[in-house]
Amino acid sequence: MTTFIDPKLIPQRKLYTGDYMPAIGMGTFGSDRFTPEQISAAVSGAIEAGYRLFDCAAVYGNEDQIGEVFRAAFDKGTVKREELFIMTKVWNDMQGKGDVLLSCAKSLRDLQLDYVDLFFVHWPFPNYHAPGASGDSRNPDSKPFNVDQFMQTWRQCERLVDMGLTRHIGMSNMTIPKLEAVLPLCRIKPVAIEMELHPCFQQPELYDYCVARDIQPIGFCPIGSPTRPDRDKTDDDITDIEVPELVEIAKAHNVHPAIICIKWAVQRGQIPIPFSIRENEYVSNLKCVTEDPLTEEEMDILETIDRNNRLIKGQVFLWEGAKGWEDLWDLDGTITK
Ligand SMILES: NC(=O)c1ccc[n+]([C@@H]2O[C@H](COP(=O)([O-])OP(=O)(O)OC[C@H]3O[C@@H](n4cnc5c(N)ncnc54)[C@H](OP(=O)(O)O)[C@@H]3O)[C@@H](O)[C@H]2O)c1
Repeated sequence: MTTFIDPKLIPQRKLYTGDYMPAIGMGTFGSDRFTPEQISAAVSGAIEAGYRLFDCAAVYGNEDQIGEVFRAAFDKGTVKREELFIMTKVWNDMQGKGDVLLSCAKSLRDLQLDYVDLFFVHWPFPNYHAPGASGDSRNPDSKPFNVDQFMQTWRQCERLVDMGLTRHIGMSNMTIPKLEAVLPLCRIKPVAIEMELHPCFQQPELYDYCVARDIQPIGFCPIGSPTRPDRDKTDDDITDIEVPELVEIAKAHNVHPAIICIKWAVQRGQIPIPFSIRENEYVSNLKCVTEDPLTEEEMDILETIDRNNRLIKGQVFLWEGAKGWEDLWDLDGTITK
């Protein structure tokens, strides 16, 4: 029998719209490693365990299997639709005029839903790479970020809200310069920005920028994504769960270092969306936010282990003439052209 953690014990985050969402959810990206069947089985177990927030995406290639799980959970009465907070994302090859609507319609059909709770623009450009592409592959059609092009995509997202197909919209993989350029143009402000966040990559400026504007940060790769695709691994990457200060704190709490990453994320205020197909892991990831919090001193120590170590560098989205993955992240404070 799956351990049940009462969803009422899970902290909730208030969005600027007045709605609430759970302070922790589950990721569903299989990192080209786990099958849709393994992932949907984990989603099923996670619902039983008390998870109410799920981070899906069209490109993860498993929304139809996850949809079966949602349908079965509603039919069985395990959970009601309105008790779940379901997020999905439009992939880069579906940002053309009218395509966002098609992408949303397909996700809704696959997920067997009438609406999603939060619909994201997955990456802020239409640059596309083939599934499972190697790290050095380039698409000759790729282009740098363009405000007009992005706003064309965002306008379609705003229409999805108008049409009741999603309750909220959000952006992902943004930078401050890009947000500065697009936020003043938004008719509907994003409720959340999904961004890479883990102890060795805390993005304090972007995090604070969002919080100051009442935009909820959602943290992906919260454990430092030890199972991420090989194309997203480089020799310089730091493994969060092996950093001595973090390991020390884990020992003091008698938990796996992954659990410290999750506790830190929730106590800091972002919404982590850890992934695991293993029941013992996804149960403990949820349960840990209901007990034995980190002390202020431990939170202070964890703040110091930020190494600015971006793991998902996005190099497969680079365009001809780009110098390197840094070009995607506007490191000098201006949008790279
Ligand atoms: N918006 C975006 O562009 C974007 C990008 C990347 C990810 N995401 C989202 O973020 C989610 C999470 O990111 P992620 O899957 O890359 O990384 P992650 O959640 O940081 O790491 C997942 C891995 O951590 C290990 N793990 C999980 N819980 C554990 C525990 N309690 N103890 C020990 N190990 C544990 C598992 O490895 P083992 O299987 O080896 O145990 C699992 O495969 C994704 O699934 C996806 O939904 C979004």
